[in-house]
Amino acid sequence: MTKKSQEALSLSVGQVAKRTGVAVSALHFYEQKGLIRSWRNSGNQRRFKREVLRRISIIKAAQKLGISLEQIKQAFASLPNERTPTKDDWTQLSSYWHQLLDQRISQLTQLRDNVTDCIGCGCLSLKACPLYNEDDKLAELGEGAHLLFE
Ligand code: FES
Repeated sequence: MTKKSQEALSLSVGQVAKRTGVAVSALHFYEQKGLIRSWRNSGNQRRFKREVLRRISIIKAAQKLGISLEQIKQAFASLPNERTPTKDDWTQLSSYWHQLLDQRISQLTQLRDNVTDCIGCGCLSLKACPLYNEDDKLAELGEGAHLLFE
């Protein structure tokens, strides 16, 4: 494909924003984070391949699932040549994200159960409260700033 025909098929940032419903500032942010790419044409205008529309659709869908931009970036990076995800890729990515959601649901369920134990208590005890300091390994060493004196 010639440079001229590539540009004719490309989209401006305004066109991408309009087609996806994503603000231009958000598109710049996605680009800064390495989720999408553009290039500058001879007039120094930012241009995007049309495939960027699919990438942004996936970003939006994943964000609705609570997937972080970093996790989305890692998922995109796992695709061959960092290509735009195909339908099969989406099946694979969504399957992985399904597992992440299951883990999060499990954590939230445990947190909810701990909240139930704490309702009416309100002590937020450093020693006893599972909400305040759930994984406090240093508590076993007693009081004090143990890491400062290692
Ligand atoms: S608030 Fe008292 S144990 Fe959590």
